[in-house]
Amino acid sequence: MTGPKDGPPPPEGVYVTYPPEGNGFGARDPVSLVQQYERQERWRRCDDALARVPLHAGERILDLGCGLGDVTARLQRLGADVVGVDMNDELLGAARRLHPDLRFENLDLNALDASPLCPVDGMWAGFVAAYFPRLEATLERWHKGLAPNGWIALVEMDDLFGHTPCPTRWSRELERFYEEARTAGRYDFQSGRRLAPALMAAGFDVVHESTLEDDELSFQGPATSDVLEAWQQRLDRMAGLRTFLGPSFEEFRRDFIDALTSPGHRSSTRVVMVVARKATSGTT
Ligand SMILES: C[S@@+](CC[C@H](N)C(=O)[O-])C[C@H]1O[C@@H](n2cnc3c(N)ncnc32)[C@H](O)[C@@H]1O
Repeated sequence: MTGPKDGPPPPEGVYVTYPPEGNGFGARDPVSLVQQYERQERWRRCDDALARVPLHAGERILDLGCGLGDVTARLQRLGADVVGVDMNDELLGAARRLHPDLRFENLDLNALDASPLCPVDGMWAGFVAAYFPRLEATLERWHKGLAPNGWIALVEMDDLFGHTPCPTRWSRELERFYEEARTAGRYDFQSGRRLAPALMAAGFDVVHESTLEDDELSFQGPATSDVLEAWQQRLDRMAGLRTFLGPSFEEFRRDFIDALTSPGHRSSTRVVMVVARKATSGTT
């Protein structure tokens, strides 16, 4: 299903990818990736996040893993000379249709530093870091693509399944699943906590770290029906978790959905934002 031309490998996390092939996972209708992304935008707090970015009008900016280009468009409205980059053709096609005046390029972020799009003054990467479990090495490459004193802003979740009350048994299983996905290089479900340390290890100076509110990922109290539907669809898409849990998957799904709908539901998931700069005398 995937390859360099089709997009990144099947991810596991916040947005994830297509409905499972030959969908036999329950009665829910498959919803296109584009529809899922469009719906998720309403639960994010993009303006709060963008207010924390040290953007100056006229700066050359890349929106890394731009998806549908919503943030690309917001960056342009803030005065940036921005290009959205992604390697998923379905998303790029939709981004170009939605924002015909903006520039979008197909690029594997693993090769960013070698791209003619660089050097740039700033990089924004929203919900992209988790796709790079070897984050420090990735950030070292992105560091090379920044001009001296350039900035980078990363937003990512931490502990996607941090929702209670859920039987303790599942916490142990999920910890093992997180570890398996990360060591296999597929996805880091605890990426948020690693943003600042990885940036520093890659040679950046961290200038800001905060937690953002998010109505889908880190809400408290029982889920609304639309948030619940989005979670059901996410669970449908999570082939890696289904394989990992095997026959226990449906039991996990029931317990997890019970947790989300419980009057006492609490989330310990965080959406973390970190802004960092390349030192003025930074090497390339
Ligand atoms: C979770 S989505 C976030 C989309 C958008 N930034 C947002 O906040 O709505 C992650 C995006 O990263 C892209 N992506 C993941 N790995 C990539 C890679 N190696 N090169 C380019 N894009 C990648 C995916 O195609 C997807 O559009």
